[in-house]
Amino acid sequence: MAQFQATASAPVNIACIKYWGKRDTKLILPTNSSLSVTLDQDHLRSTTTSRADPSFEKDRLWLNGKEEDIKDGGRMATCIAEMKRLRKQEVEDKQPNEPQVVSLFFVTYLTLKLTSCPKLSSYHVHIASYNNFPTAAGLASSASGFAALVSSLAQLYALPVSPSTLSLIARQGSGSACRSLYGGFVAWEQGTRPDGQDSLAVQIAPQSHWPDMHALICVVSDDKKGTSSTSGMQRTVETSALLQHRIAHVVPQRMAAISAAIKSRDFDAFAKVTMADSNQFHAVALDTEPPIFYMNDVSRAIIALIVEYNRVSMEKGLGRRAAYTYDAGPNAVIYTLKENVKEIVELVVKYFPQRDGFKDVFGLFGEAGVQGKVVEGFNEAVAKEFEAGAVKGLIHTKIGDGPRALGAEESLLGEDGFPK
Ligand code: DP6
Repeated sequence: MAQFQATASAPVNIACIKYWGKRDTKLILPTNSSLSVTLDQDHLRSTTTSRADPSFEKDRLWLNGKEEDIKDGGRMATCIAEMKRLRKQEVEDKQPNEPQVVSLFFVTYLTLKLTSCPKLSSYHVHIASYNNFPTAAGLASSASGFAALVSSLAQLYALPVSPSTLSLIARQGSGSACRSLYGGFVAWEQGTRPDGQDSLAVQIAPQSHWPDMHALICVVSDDKKGTSSTSGMQRTVETSALLQHRIAHVVPQRMAAISAAIKSRDFDAFAKVTMADSNQFHAVALDTEPPIFYMNDVSRAIIALIVEYNRVSMEKGLGRRAAYTYDAGPNAVIYTLKENVKEIVELVVKYFPQRDGFKDVFGLFGEAGVQGKVVEGFNEAVAKEFEAGAVKGLIHTKIGDGPRALGAEESLLGEDGFPK
């Protein structure tokens, strides 16, 4: 019997203009638009296999080999139900009705029709998902995870719809996930409709527009459990007056400014807006009652290094050449152009010695490896040198493409429909 199965991978994205606040917590509709860079799946990705089968007794999902509970009315259940609804609406309901009187002549035709368009929306699914980056790295996996889930189901269901339409569904899994349906530079337009049908992702520019956009992720040690994005942003909506100012008077201008900077490949302008928006996101977190702190001393030292690096660069008339940004945790993501990555790695390693060395995936450093040094004119007193392990890892990656359809050899489900 035919097997109905598909495997897809999806990327991580890191926002330059942050999403923080919902106007509808069930549909996940944001209080402001946001914009992100999609990172390369060759380095960071979620892979998901979905299978539909009439013998399955219920929908089941395994994440990194461990079964997760699909709660009724929860985000996972909503995404799966929405995808089944789309399958029915866009594929099954558009097939011609089955003939009422089946003449001999029609028998072959009918059989063919049934196998080419089985009612997959009525079957339960088994889903296995895997992140190639350790959860311990503190990187948000919900964005790539929900994007991969939706992409694999879209492939399984042969849905003739755009990534923007799929983003409407991924959004209901985790807001930031909607931006992982595209590669390159992606905006999530907040929309105005109460039903959320205009709150979706659009591509501002593909990765090919600015392929030299690179990212260095500084994985900062974090022992204590922080406030989740979901609950943190809700508290901010309820208590922060600064958030209202941000929504009305800051984000709209910044969305326009950063889109223009991307279109004209103006890194200085891109960096200025990105850092300002990271700062304001952490300011509204601090303005929350009780206050939320996501950055720590290490995060702040990295800011000091990038500020000083940019001061030197601007003094030379080169403009800003690096941009830091922080999500709901202490990890730094530093955006820079390919030509500056070496200098920035040297700088970070000088202040944050690496226990396991630097994984030079782009082959930037020769035999000598990373020395740990600053650029000429750099004021070394802007930060102290930390003990090895304060930054426990550096991940060098770059801008990347959107979700990929993978072959059967990449399947995460075995013949029996259970994780391999
Ligand atoms: C700081 O998308 O994780 O990373 O919609 O509740 O799942 P939920 O929140 P989530 O929030 C991401 C917040 C952020 C900023 C951003 O990615 O835009």
